[in-house]
Amino acid sequence: MRGLFISLEGVDGAGKSSHIGWLAEHFRNRGRTVRLTREPGGTAVGERLREIVLHEPMHPETEALIMFAARREHLEQVILPALARGEVVISDRFTDASFAYQCGGRGLPEARLEALERWVHEGLQPDLTLLFDVPDTVARARLAAARDPDRFEREGQAFFERVRAAYLRRAERHPGRIRVIDGTRNHAAVRVEIEAVLASLP
Ligand code: TYD
Repeated sequence: MRGLFISLEGVDGAGKSSHIGWLAEHFRNRGRTVRLTREPGGTAVGERLREIVLHEPMHPETEALIMFAARREHLEQVILPALARGEVVISDRFTDASFAYQCGGRGLPEARLEALERWVHEGLQPDLTLLFDVPDTVARARLAAARDPDRFEREGQAFFERVRAAYLRRAERHPGRIRVIDGTRNHAAVRVEIEAVLASLP
């Protein structure tokens, strides 16, 4: 069976993490082997890089390079082998997050990241990306309830608005792959919408 690569994206507080468990179940119920993973992270090296990038102050380009270094390892150790075995890989964030946070949020030129993307991906893209979209006010209210914010979660409203706008621009550019999910609705309604998207997969 052909491997399937799905990534989940959205600003912090958009609600993507609350859907990842049943999404995995959805495919397991259909007899598929599912590999759940996340970025930055997903490997021993990647998880150590995650600790650094989420907590240590650094130059925005260093931040971008660490994201792609962790991704290189993630592709090599986890994503490519699982896809080669025909598994379903569901990643909590992937490269769209770098374009949203490091370009939109931090202001790095997209051309820089496009070069890294070409280098690290070698042509691979997710088959499907679910972009959970919520206005800044909703995301902030959800985050306020969260514990121990990281370096990104401590950013101000303007940062999140830029991240969200960058995500939506990317969705406009890749309409076949990236599906925008209205994350303001309740869990059940969001789930129905995602199930409809999954049913439309080739
Ligand atoms: P996430 O796993 O969603 O955080 P949490 O554990 O709090 O749910 O993501 C960690 C942070 O990393 C998030 O704020 C977005 C950021 N990030 C980037 O800035 N660039 C990237 O390429 C990736 C993958 C994540």
